[in-house]
Amino acid sequence: MNNKSENIHPVFDQLLPRESKESLLQQKGRVIWFTGLSGSGKSTIAKGVEEKLHTAGFFSVVLDGDNVRTGINNNLGFSTEDRKENIRRIAEVAKLFCTNGVITICCFVSPTEEIRNQARNIIGKNDFVEIFVNTPIEECERRDVKGLYAKARKGEIKDFTGVNAPFEVPANPDFEIRTTNKSVEESVSEVLHFVAPQVLFHK
Ligand code: ADX
Repeated sequence: MNNKSENIHPVFDQLLPRESKESLLQQKGRVIWFTGLSGSGKSTIAKGVEEKLHTAGFFSVVLDGDNVRTGINNNLGFSTEDRKENIRRIAEVAKLFCTNGVITICCFVSPTEEIRNQARNIIGKNDFVEIFVNTPIEECERRDVKGLYAKARKGEIKDFTGVNAPFEVPANPDFEIRTTNKSVEESVSEVLHFVAPQVLFHK
């Protein structure tokens, strides 16, 4: 048998239970999973949500391309297989945070139903809150904050989501935010309104 985890002895049952952590933090652990095109506003909204939660006394952590693809996933690119592995590792990390009571905010393109289902299955559907940041590609391209759409159109980036790699619109997100003609503050406030009741300890 070539099972790399066969000699691993789990200690989960000896560690403090999730409820103790949630009680300490006075909040429920959840994974808030933002999906959407590059430049749709995922990280910007997440940053605002994190700030507001912090001010209100909630403990959260943001995972996004900046802190994940430069570190734990710096060996991965954008092929279908690499994106799957990217999301698999992120989902496992998010699950660890979440089961320790942390509100874990994930901002990843996560472009296909298969990839999002993989994350949902790893994390568990009760803890997984999918938020579709619905910004049309025309708007993302108009903003082009990182200049990546221009490069992709010139053929300088292959497999760029929305240009020459697919983005499947989520069939059944828990929440959808349309950012066009909305200020960041408005988007943050809409998301918070949806998220806050789900992380309250006494519910
Ligand atoms: S995912 O598809 O695996 O979920 P992820 O969210 O980690 O993607 O990374 C997306 C970010 O990487 C984009 O916002 C963009 O800044 C950058 N990027 C670089 N190359 C690509 C590409 N080919 N497709 C999409 N995003 C890319």
